[in-house]
Amino acid sequence: MSYDYLFKIVLVGDCGVGKTQIRNRYTLDEFNPQSKSTIGVEFAFKTVNIDGNEVKGQIWDTSGEERYRAITSAYYRGSVGAVLVYDVTKPKTFEALENWASQLRQYADENIVVCVVGNKIDLPTREVSTAEAERFARGNGFFYMETSALDGTGVESAFRQVMKKIF
Ligand code: GTP
Repeated sequence: MSYDYLFKIVLVGDCGVGKTQIRNRYTLDEFNPQSKSTIGVEFAFKTVNIDGNEVKGQIWDTSGEERYRAITSAYYRGSVGAVLVYDVTKPKTFEALENWASQLRQYADENIVVCVVGNKIDLPTREVSTAEAERFARGNGFFYMETSALDGTGVESAFRQVMKKIF
């Protein structure tokens, strides 16, 4: 299939926040509750129309585990968008966003578009408020969205917003 633009978008965040499931929901419209931790790097494509342009998104996801950090600079290279994911039921994964943001500043292009995503909003046990997460995002020059990879809420629109802002 032909396209006008190719945008590399990387998913980052702690282990278990749902990066792989967000990618699968977006690119395949699938959710696998038995998903295993990602080993190394995986990516998948999806082409969407943004304001009349065919935009092919190359969506990368890697493990949140420290031992795979060696690939960090290659992972970020050429990326024009980043999705910083945390789990709204796990405050520790939200606190960790500070570290993920500094890694982004170190390795990614300074003009990269960054979307903070609070995932798993289908769960009843939320512990990080929308206001708190919005404050963090704004304070860092990012924007904020909420998703459920399980039921699909917000996933398509988070990627769409990232792509619109890249233009
Ligand atoms: P690593 O590869 O280890 O860094 O993890 P990851 O961030 O890719 O997480 P993954 O997508 O593997 O999801 C971790 C667990 O959370 C899995 O058991 C998923 O089924 C579950 N999960 C992911 N997204 C959601 C969601 O939106 N809602 C609910 N309820 N569970 C989710």
